[in-house]
Amino acid sequence: MTAPARPQRVAILISGSGSNMAALVAAMTGDHPARPVLVVSNVPGAGGLARAAAAGVPVATVDHRAYPDRAAFEAGLEAALAPAAPDLICLAGFMRILSPGFVDRHAGRILNIHPSLLPKYPGLHTHARALAAGDTVAGATVHVVTADLDAGPILGQARVPILPGDTAAALAARVLAAEHRLYPAVLRRVAGGDWSRVDL
Ligand code: GRF
Repeated sequence: MTAPARPQRVAILISGSGSNMAALVAAMTGDHPARPVLVVSNVPGAGGLARAAAAGVPVATVDHRAYPDRAAFEAGLEAALAPAAPDLICLAGFMRILSPGFVDRHAGRILNIHPSLLPKYPGLHTHARALAAGDTVAGATVHVVTADLDAGPILGQARVPILPGDTAAALAARVLAAEHRLYPAVLRRVAGGDWSRVDL
């Protein structure tokens, strides 16, 4: 493992409340080997934008609805990202699928957090699916983004119990709290040049 000589520049893509983004930003201080350089939302007015700005991180909005197709949207995303020159791009509740072309241009440098213990339950409605299956354990996964949805190499997982009487909302809240521990832990390791797996 070779630690990068300078702090890694991290851009974070969001679509919503940005609680994972806030956890990442809060962690990137002091001796942390990364710094947040930009938060981008594809949703105008997403709650996370105000949180990022309040934390002193530059923000941008690239509204996918303002573009005719995915390629044009992603060109807009690239234009927003380029001046920030990110080493790593963290998806944090970013609800757009990135094309293989975008992923290739940033190969191995895009991370995502997903609210299930992948490879179980890629895609949406993970908590309802875990409950319907009668699972007793749920969790979250941070993985490298590849062209296959939610299927890239796993960098870390956090496990939480499923409790009797759990609703999807109660389980989601428990998993989200675990996400806020897991994502910063993985980012710290990766930004320091260590891509070994984190288990919480
Ligand atoms: C998280 O559960 C994340 O795993 C999923 O969407 C949610 C985003 O929450 N992809 P937040 O915007 O980070 O609060």
